[in-house]
Amino acid sequence: MLAGKRILLIIGGGIAAFKSLDLIRKLREQGAEVTPVLTKASEEFVTPLSASALSAQKVYRDLFNLTDEAEMGHIELSRAADLIVVAPATADLMAKMANGLANDLASTLLLATDKRVLIAPSMNVRMWQHPATQRNLAVLQADGILVTGPDEGDMACGEYGPGRMSEPLAIVEAVAAALVDGPLKGKKILVTSGPTHERIDPVRYIANRSSGAQGTAVARALSALGAEVTFVTGPADVAPPEGVKVVAVQTAAEMLEAVQNALPVDAAVFAAAVADWRVASASNNKIKKSKAGLPKLEFAENPDILASVAQMKKGRPGLVVGFAAETQDVIENATAKRDRKGCDWIIANDVSPETGIMGGDENAVTVISDKGADSWPRMSKAQVAARIAAQIAEALA
Ligand code: CTP
Repeated sequence: MLAGKRILLIIGGGIAAFKSLDLIRKLREQGAEVTPVLTKASEEFVTPLSASALSAQKVYRDLFNLTDEAEMGHIELSRAADLIVVAPATADLMAKMANGLANDLASTLLLATDKRVLIAPSMNVRMWQHPATQRNLAVLQADGILVTGPDEGDMACGEYGPGRMSEPLAIVEAVAAALVDGPLKGKKILVTSGPTHERIDPVRYIANRSSGAQGTAVARALSALGAEVTFVTGPADVAPPEGVKVVAVQTAAEMLEAVQNALPVDAAVFAAAVADWRVASASNNKIKKSKAGLPKLEFAENPDILASVAQMKKGRPGLVVGFAAETQDVIENATAKRDRKGCDWIIANDVSPETGIMGGDENAVTVISDKGADSWPRMSKAQVAARIAAQIAEALA
């Protein structure tokens, strides 16, 4: 997957640094050449010898080592790379990057490069949630730095929450997404996914059974072909893919706003199971049981996000793809839905409980376009996604 790719791996000084040794191994298994750079602090966690042995490369440690500068100056070092990966990216390294500091080898390399940079943050949960770190994160993302993780879980310090470095395999996936020169390189694609939650009161909401699995798989497959993916997701059961821009929303109204902010794009895929209705006036206080009778909920219609984009007069994406979740007369209903909404393709599936598709790992779809209806055999959602992505690449070529 990464044959011939050169990765400069900056290992920051955090407890997750030990996982970076495994990351070196996994990147090399994919054919990448990895040159490690250790910060002073990371040498407290991993030794230059182990990084050098696992990478089979010289390890760079000190900005002012004249021999290193003569062999390959720090500017050369970052120029020679296809991608710079910072793993673990500590709060301190992120702060330096966000502010353009260059007072050691790692931060100097990061400032001196014009190559893409991927960071895998890792720190204590409170440090991660601190407004300063979140501010730095926003700056880095605006600068085009790619971010993977952090994951949520038990931390070395005994606390629980977001702050664990992504697992090495997930980082490899993000590296591949950043580096592959797929047929969708340079294309911007929007994907919506997951259910929406519509508020009844502060503690209750209306939802649906969508897991977000198919939309997530489509976003991952598009990203694997090199697309720059914006992934607008409701509260899904599955984690979003690495290497895509994730915008998390709760309600249909928030999803519409996020979609509008993501435009213009070359293609848009609407895989979200958007709630058709919201509660007309959600209560600000918890609705209490009352002798006066049962609560009555009045509904209001949600905006149709797919239709609003498919019917844009100006700036419409070149290709608009919808999904149709049906339980009867699947092809007839989906064909009518395609006409009504104005999208180019609609991907119809039967979500009756006996199919096990909603919430399951497999899907059986029919792609309806102006060429007619094309029914695919039942296969995994990942395979469906790969085929959809390949067809999108063909359509945009
Ligand atoms: N969709 C949307 N916004 C909505 C409702 C649906 O963007 N408010 C999109 C979905 O993401 C999907 C397509 O429209 O791509 C069809 O969704 P589906 O739930 O099958 O259709 P509905 O419009 O809800 O029609 P119905 O409930 O009558 O089947």
